[in-house]
Amino acid sequence: MKAISKISLATLLCAIILFTTTQLVLADLQNTTYNSPFLPLNIPRANIGLTPLFSPDHSTKEETELVMSAKKTIDIAIPGFDSWSGCTYPKDGCMGCSATDLLNNEKFPIFQVLINQIVQHGVKVRLLTNKYDDKMCSGKMDLLTYLKIAGADVRYYTTTTFLHAKYITIDGCKSAISSINFSQTSFRRNREAGILVNECNNAAGVVKFSQGVFEYDFFHGVPLDVDYSQYSKSDIHMIQTSTATVTIPENMHFANCDASSGDIQEFNDNYNISISASPDYAYGFLMSALNQVKKSLKISIYEISHPDLCDYVIQLGNKGINLKIFASHYVFAKSEALEAYQCYRKLVDNNINVVLSAKQCLEFSHEKYWVIDDNILMMSTGNWRGSDYPNPPYVFPPKKGNSSTWRNVNRDFTLRIDGQTAILKKFLAVLDNDYQQGYPYSPSTSTSPIKQSINIRNY
Ligand SMILES: *[C@@H]1O[C@H](CO)[C@@H](O)[C@H](O)[C@H]1NC(C)=O
Ligand SMILES: *[C@@H]1O[C@H](CO)[C@@H](O)[C@H](O)[C@H]1NC(C)=O
Ligand SMILES: *[C@@H]1O[C@H](CO)[C@@H](O)[C@H](O)[C@H]1NC(C)=O
Repeated sequence: MKAISKISLATLLCAIILFTTTQLVLADLQNTTYNSPFLPLNIPRANIGLTPLFSPDHSTKEETELVMSAKKTIDIAIPGFDSWSGCTYPKDGCMGCSATDLLNNEKFPIFQVLINQIVQHGVKVRLLTNKYDDKMCSGKMDLLTYLKIAGADVRYYTTTTFLHAKYITIDGCKSAISSINFSQTSFRRNREAGILVNECNNAAGVVKFSQGVFEYDFFHGVPLDVDYSQYSKSDIHMIQTSTATVTIPENMHFANCDASSGDIQEFNDNYNISISASPDYAYGFLMSALNQVKKSLKISIYEISHPDLCDYVIQLGNKGINLKIFASHYVFAKSEALEAYQCYRKLVDNNINVVLSAKQCLEFSHEKYWVIDDNILMMSTGNWRGSDYPNPPYVFPPKKGNSSTWRNVNRDFTLRIDGQTAILKKFLAVLDNDYQQGYPYSPSTSTSPIKQSINIRNY
């Protein structure tokens, strides 16, 4: 007995050490105060197309084909740009793969499409992402380095602490705004949600807004620095001339649940649509919608950990508002998980049910959307968390040299679509399907939201 428990303790310790040492460390590059120049925008009768995007069953194909359809430009803002084949996963203190391996064996189809778009079609590709302090193994590279050598303009985000938006725009007129990170988990093992805004036939202004934010952040970005002396002339020549084979994988099968989101299509309508950027005024944008709740609020979200938003939900409950709250059973970062569970406990103490996603199904329920009075759909790249919806004042000093006034805030987007639209009904149907399969949160049964999982760090 004793020997066994010693062994399992040792295994656990190893697991913990492995777990902590393989965490990516974020480099916070913000060095000036951010004064939130982007006021929310409302466009009353936008004649545009909106396509709902959902993981795990649609996003891989939809986003890959979106990038494939670009004729002139591809702009991507994304928290991380993960390999699906282990090339960005540090082992023995460093990471990376050879250029040949990346070209021939990388499984992330958007990477392969980007190579072809740059090398074969001369499409201008701009990539904005967070900088992590990972060490590259000598002579090896990651996907971003490969794409930079191929000809992409790759920069690191500096506007605030963290770029949390998941954003792809092609030809300046079609934008995918979603919760879908560039990791295999996000595309294939999570519930994720997004909206593809098509303004290619009528520039209504949503894409102009989001592109304005992208341009601002890209302009302030720091270029990825490639040490060309690490790589052979033949590798560089290969990267700049070779095309790749794109393979979109079959969807994964989930034996223990119904993880599907049904059919999707583009819905064309005259939308009363609004958009806001975080951290700029997003909290006010959200609150002004929540202040309109008269009958019901339905939320499907990764986490609620913003104390004020949590309290506001309790107030709504006390007023007799019909509440339906669905959240992820598993939240990756421990501190975030504990804060979310604190909120859920408070809700339950106030007789508000919280339903968590089925454990035997998807990895994370990473979507972020909510519906007010069955009449207003809101979808975000951010969670109900202080970093995504920071309270006023909307002035954000950097951590550098000023840590007492610093707030850890993210770049995010939130969309709001008023009216009983077909896209609202689609989101509600997915919420209902997920909700029915979930289980009620209870402080006594769920002691810890943290799963023993060492290999997954993509959320
Ligand atoms: C902030 O960082 C950028 C990029 O590293 C640099 O060009 C700029 O001079 C810095 N600004 C300040 C105020 O330190
Ligand atoms: C459109 O939505 C905005 C809020 O985003 C609201 O103030 C306005 O009244 C709505 N207009 C119509 C015509 O529904
Ligand atoms: C540091 O914080 C103070 C107080 O909020 C502010 O006045 C000042 O502008 C900040 N400095 C920078 C570099 O952001």
